[in-house]
Amino acid sequence: MFRKKKEEEEVWTGYRIGADKAQSFYLADEAYNTSQVDKLSELILSSEKIYYDLGSSKKIDDLILKGINNFRRTKSRIGKPNPQIIDPIVLIDSMRLIKSDNEIKLLQEAINITEKGFIEAINFSKPGVYEYEVQEIMEKEFRLRGAKRNGYPSIVASGKNSCILHYIQNDKKIEKESLLLIDAGSEWDYYSADITRTWPVNGKFTGEQKDIYEIVLEANIKAIDECKVGNNINDPHIKALTILIEGLKNLKILSESVDQIIEERLYTPFYMHSTSHWLGLDVHDSGKYRDREENFTKFSEGMILTIEPGLYFGDMAQKISSKYKDIGIRVEDDILITKSGPKNLSANIPKSIKDLEN
Ligand code: GLY
Ligand code: MN
Ligand code: MN
Repeated sequence: MFRKKKEEEEVWTGYRIGADKAQSFYLADEAYNTSQVDKLSELILSSEKIYYDLGSSKKIDDLILKGINNFRRTKSRIGKPNPQIIDPIVLIDSMRLIKSDNEIKLLQEAINITEKGFIEAINFSKPGVYEYEVQEIMEKEFRLRGAKRNGYPSIVASGKNSCILHYIQNDKKIEKESLLLIDAGSEWDYYSADITRTWPVNGKFTGEQKDIYEIVLEANIKAIDECKVGNNINDPHIKALTILIEGLKNLKILSESVDQIIEERLYTPFYMHSTSHWLGLDVHDSGKYRDREENFTKFSEGMILTIEPGLYFGDMAQKISSKYKDIGIRVEDDILITKSGPKNLSANIPKSIKDLEN
């Protein structure tokens, strides 16, 4: 269904393709204008399968039910079963989980453009500038390199804002000695990168910032190693979690055993999000994480996921330990599962302490 072409409306809101052109452009067997939506119930009379996400629109649900009732009255009598209603999401989800070579190329381009934006941001950031200025410098680079949009709103968080996971106000002045956490991704032909880097704006980590950065970076690197065929999304998570917890124990922030900390989720004031999600057309791409029996989806060639451990010393953490106040660090990369092991598609974006200091 397409909006009808209408010059007097197109002059306000832009061109429409209209049903006639849409048919050849989208290679559809048939196409209709939205004003012909009632035709849906008629079409059902000659259908065996209806691919539709029942419940997504009351109006369409009603038209489909009306069509099925008509069908029952006319066709069921001659022995034809009702058309099947099939949820297309189940089919599309599994198609989207495994990326084709072309999809991998598009995502790699989104990541390459994001890399250039991050490098501009790292070079530009300094105490005294505002978070939104750094955002502009980074996003300008995305635009100049042809990325029309961002995959999601950029998080540009300095100082204590880095402890707010979805901070997008980006309106504070960057203080001296503070860290800057940027979580951003350009979009290329609808595929979105998803990268986080955290660095010291004056070019040198303080001792305390370094203590935490080293733990998070190790968790990121070791979790990436777990991204291999046959493993599942819980393997890198448990690896990252264990390293983060051991780090917190070494710093005397937590004292219980690793098992107890995991079992009682004592780590959550410091690490409250998961380590990975699928990545693709959506930043949190579709695709099942578990099957009906609750078993995790096994990694196979062509899947792309993020690895994004972090540690945050915001208000919740302060109730347990007042050390490391306002330090929030996350390191996020985009990983392709291949037969020969994990391929870090964002490996070129600086993340070692040496590369982030100057
Ligand atoms: N940028 C959103 C996420 O990392 O999940
Ligand atoms: Mn992510
Ligand atoms: Mn992210």
